[in-house]
Amino acid sequence: MLLSDDANAIAAAERSAAAGASASEVLGRLRETLPLDAFGLLMIGLPRTDLPALSALLPHMASEETQRNFTGAAGVPLLGQTVGFVRTLAYNYASLSNRSLKDAKILDYGCGYGRITRAMYYYTDPANIWAVDPWDYAIDLCKEVGLLGNLAQSDYLPQSLPAPEGGIDVMFAFSVFTHTSRSATDAALAAMRRHIAEDGLLAITIRAPEYWRADPAYAETAQIHEKAHAEQGFAYVPHPRETVAGEATYGDTSISLDFLKQNYPDWEVAGLDWSLVDLHQRYVFLRPV
Ligand SMILES: C[S@@+](CC[C@H](N)C(=O)[O-])C[C@H]1O[C@@H](n2cnc3c(N)ncnc32)[C@H](O)[C@@H]1O
Repeated sequence: MLLSDDANAIAAAERSAAAGASASEVLGRLRETLPLDAFGLLMIGLPRTDLPALSALLPHMASEETQRNFTGAAGVPLLGQTVGFVRTLAYNYASLSNRSLKDAKILDYGCGYGRITRAMYYYTDPANIWAVDPWDYAIDLCKEVGLLGNLAQSDYLPQSLPAPEGGIDVMFAFSVFTHTSRSATDAALAAMRRHIAEDGLLAITIRAPEYWRADPAYAETAQIHEKAHAEQGFAYVPHPRETVAGEATYGDTSISLDFLKQNYPDWEVAGLDWSLVDLHQRYVFLRPV
């Protein structure tokens, strides 16, 4: 799968890890010598018996079952989705903020098992990364496999986040606001606003109303949710799960752009994108106002 140049770069990183280099040093070296996709392939393939030193320093990938449970896909096809999002994040940050992700302070909101957190090591040192999720199981999964960075459990209805205030350059929430209730969405966007740098960028994904007809789970009820979306700009169906403050905060959600513009005046919609690999994750880039 890898080109020989990439395999040579990984072998050199393995030798430096075996000689005592730190995870930061090894990641710095890999960043300089590998393309993003090759870096991603390495990250999703760990641990590897032929790379014992790198496997001891860098996080092991989540099991295939965990990947499918959180993200509906696994392995290389999922990596294709991950790098697709990461490239558009890097492009939009450069284009909208005139800065690169290199050495940026980054927050992964609703990080799950750390799928996209791992890809961020391609741009910045783990010390500059905050990965938060309100589900203790998700944070435990991250810790068990040695995910690097500042990992912490957040609240389902957060007032603030376990991260520095006002200092985060780039935040993203992938496949989070596609699931959150109105109050969880409101709380998260308000909390993130407190932590973002004045010239920072937040990338979120939302679902368009077409989602309801595309998901067989809503074959019988799609019209009702489309109507709610058309009338209110926000449609939400809770999953049967534990409640927080009397409310099921997680389910399936579609949100219109007008809803974002009208209800969150301290954020400005600065850019939009989507990828052919998953039409139902519409990327929205928000700047603090
Ligand atoms: C579909 S998974 C996506 C995980 C990860 N962002 C990814 O794309 O690989 C949704 C994640 O959102 C988390 N989550 C649920 N409710 C949340 C809330 N109110 N705020 C933030 N995250 C939440 C879940 O625990 C879960 O890890």
